Amino acid sequence: MGRLLRPLLHADHRIMRLSDIVDIDDIQPGEEFVNVDLLDADAVAKACQDVHAILHLGGISTEASFEDVLAVNIVGTQNLLRAAVDAGVPRVLLASSNHAVGFYSRGEVPAGAEGLPDDLPPRPDTYYGWSKAAIESLGALYHRRFGLAVTVLRIGTCFAEPADTRTLATWLAPADAANLVEAALAAPPAGYRVVWAVSDNDRRWWSLAGARALGYQPGDNAERFAAERGVLYAPPQGRRSFGDGALKVNGRIFAMPGAEGLVVKLPAPRCSELLADGSAAPFDRGKGTPLREWVVITDPVRWPALAAEALAFVRG
Ligand SMILES: NC(=O)c1ccc[n+]([C@@H]2O[C@H](COP(=O)([O-])OP(=O)(O)OC[C@H]3O[C@@H](n4cnc5c(N)ncnc54)[C@H](O)[C@@H]3O)[C@@H](O)[C@H]2O)c1
Repeated sequence: MGRLLRPLLHADHRIMRLSDIVDIDDIQPGEEFVNVDLLDADAVAKACQDVHAILHLGGISTEASFEDVLAVNIVGTQNLLRAAVDAGVPRVLLASSNHAVGFYSRGEVPAGAEGLPDDLPPRPDTYYGWSKAAIESLGALYHRRFGLAVTVLRIGTCFAEPADTRTLATWLAPADAANLVEAALAAPPAGYRVVWAVSDNDRRWWSLAGARALGYQPGDNAERFAAERGVLYAPPQGRRSFGDGALKVNGRIFAMPGAEGLVVKLPAPRCSELLADGSAAPFDRGKGTPLREWVVITDPVRWPALAAEALAFVRG
């Protein structure tokens, strides 16, 4: 994200002090770089001197072992927040993730609401998501105890373009990410806020109310990529039956939501393999006889990869 945001956050009046554990070798005018390991509290403290605001993006950004996310994401963020308070930095923006609340479903959007609200209590879906929920709460502590203004961004999927059906709903266009960061930097500094960070996608199921209240003006909508991604979402209608809410390619179903997870169509030997190693549960359409080429994937972390596998299988 840092790479995408740097040119978008460039401003004549601003010096951006970039920091990472790996070197950045294309520093531009208006930028400076410090190589800092978030686990090195002294180096973090030094990097926070004479800074007006911090956008904290560093750390582990996908699922990893509990020990690793505990060290890098939790201890690293603690070092950063401590250093911000000690250096008198008034404002910190924390990059959280939709995985902090990954076990909510689209079906839980309150009636009449435009999406799941910003103040949704954590329901993490991974150790990574748990670490994000934990830093959200650490941010709340630093706000209430030390007066730091903290804005938590529950980021959807911030890539140059949405890559698949899910990201047609969760995409945060880089320009919208920059718009939201600018809005959060310009808003009155008091407070602790958690806001969804997502573009105004037709398929989104997260509210933009909190971000808009900060002044966020999303300009993009992932739907413009939908046709070329070649995947259609068939929303459930009326009484539920086989194929409701299914993802189809060329008119054939390759994945669909089930009560216990994502139901995918894969070759029978592959289904057997996933059942044998515990990655999948049998799918029997409620009739007691498991289908040979369908399994239920219960772990959301595996959904994107196995849905892609199912898509490739069914597309042929
Ligand atoms: N990109 C997304 O779609 C997305 C979605 C949700 C949340 N987020 C969050 O936004 C932030 C940025 O995401 P990203 O996609 O750019 O991730 P990324 O993995 O590309 O970037 C993370 C950066 O942190 C650095 N880093 C790792 N360990 C470090 C350490 N010990 N000390 C200092 N730096 C360290 C890495 O070198 C890397 O450059 C992350 O916190 C991520 O969890 C991103």
